[in-house]
Amino acid sequence: MSGAASGARSVTVRVPAKVNVQLAVGAARADGFHDLANVFLAVSLYDEVTVTPADALRVTCSGPDADQVPLDRTNLAARAAEILAARGGFAPAVHLHIAKSIPVAGGMAGGSADGAAALLACDTLWGLGTARAELLDICAELGSDVPFSLVGGAALGTGRGEVLTPLPAGEFHWVFAVADGGLSTPAVFREFDRLAEGRAIPVPQASPALTAALASGDADALAATLANDLQPAALSLRPGLADTLAAGTEAGALAALVSGSGPTTAFLCRDPESAGKVAAALAASGTCRATRVAASPAPGATVLPS
Ligand code: C5P
Repeated sequence: MSGAASGARSVTVRVPAKVNVQLAVGAARADGFHDLANVFLAVSLYDEVTVTPADALRVTCSGPDADQVPLDRTNLAARAAEILAARGGFAPAVHLHIAKSIPVAGGMAGGSADGAAALLACDTLWGLGTARAELLDICAELGSDVPFSLVGGAALGTGRGEVLTPLPAGEFHWVFAVADGGLSTPAVFREFDRLAEGRAIPVPQASPALTAALASGDADALAATLANDLQPAALSLRPGLADTLAAGTEAGALAALVSGSGPTTAFLCRDPESAGKVAAALAASGTCRATRVAASPAPGATVLPS
């Protein structure tokens, strides 16, 4: 089998970015990964991945930071198409186009999002109807954050982050400050290990106060409980991020933290008006490259009507 079994000419999937409202990191495991208690929240910054039948697998990307996106087989969108096609015993003869809006290498799971989106888009184009549980298994094979990109909303991720339990979440408003350049996730975890040397690291656990605040939609309560164990490591590698965090809180954000492994920083705001003011102040502060306003929770990867 090859090509568009569903008869569709192309399929576009929209997929959200994420912020970690809690990222509790345990000690390094024998396989090099870290056990996590990782509270994911999908936010309304989206990439769109369009898949079209082609002679051979090809990836293109558009958007302001498109030049930073790898277009070879290391791109998780390409790998998703390859894995799904290999399971069916046919070639992944598709063109994958990524309309990139999520910061690249920014700690917002942009690459993971594209992997989940490509998987769903190819499954739809090829008319495979792969069971959700199998799609989630392929996502976990692609990377620790990829299953959440498929699911969206809010969820607790345990294991290396790939074992998901959905969580209820009220509405929250955010500003994201995009930094110059990306940070490598493995490098941030290595720095976490270096900073943790000689210290006992507790088993990571979700905070009941945080999950209650998330469910209630109470921004003050969530602000009081936000926590990211990777933040000291990200700040150690990029000390200038401290100025960005300070600029956002001085401008009225209820709380500020590094998003995931960074270097994007996240600012929780009381309402959309406050978010607009914080974004303007951050842009004027000269401590970041760009700002983005978003709301949460956002839905996971979704096929758009053609
Ligand atoms: O799973 P993923 O490929 O996204 O992980 C990228 C890298 O981040 C891993 O190779 C590892 O260095 C680090 N990581 C980790 N513990 C996790 C998730 C990721 O150490 N739970």
